[in-house]
Amino acid sequence: MGMTWEELESACSGCQECPLGGTRTNIVIGTGNRNADIMFVGEAPGADEDRTGIPFVGAAGKHLDKFLAAVGIAREDVYIANILKCRPPNNRDPLPEEQDVCIKYLRCQVKLIRPKIIVCLGRISAMRLIDPEFRITKMHGQFFKKGDFHICAVYHPSALLRDASKNEDMYRDMKAIKKKLDELA
Ligand code: URA
Repeated sequence: MGMTWEELESACSGCQECPLGGTRTNIVIGTGNRNADIMFVGEAPGADEDRTGIPFVGAAGKHLDKFLAAVGIAREDVYIANILKCRPPNNRDPLPEEQDVCIKYLRCQVKLIRPKIIVCLGRISAMRLIDPEFRITKMHGQFFKKGDFHICAVYHPSALLRDASKNEDMYRDMKAIKKKLDELA
């Protein structure tokens, strides 16, 4: 689906293609550099994102920011979006049918941005964008070539907040991502 940013924003704002359209406060389309070489994709907005309309502004987002800073990736140089643009009630996992209707907006964002690297934040995003059988504990940090871009997945920042022992793996993966970014630049 070829759209301009304005067309995408207008389509998202009016979207009622799944029941989440009726419960959202704000649609959360994406944020950051529209010319980014690297794009991060989470699963769905949480309460803070639904309130502000901006992805990854809550606790998980702040944790992600620490890793970006630690490996020298500026937040202004990345674009961040989610598989779903509306918040699922009580932060439950996005349903397959919600993903099926919403994924076109993410595809459109990828077409407009044309990043060199896509980083899936967590299992849900990795299963949707890399492989339905993706196992995050085994396959995090591994790069795959898909079409014009390189894609990998890391632990979701919320998972790191629940289990700090995963932070070390996350730091290693993020350093490898920064190295890949430098190589491709
Ligand atoms: N978790 C996500 O997956 N996305 C957000 O935008 C916030 C929290």
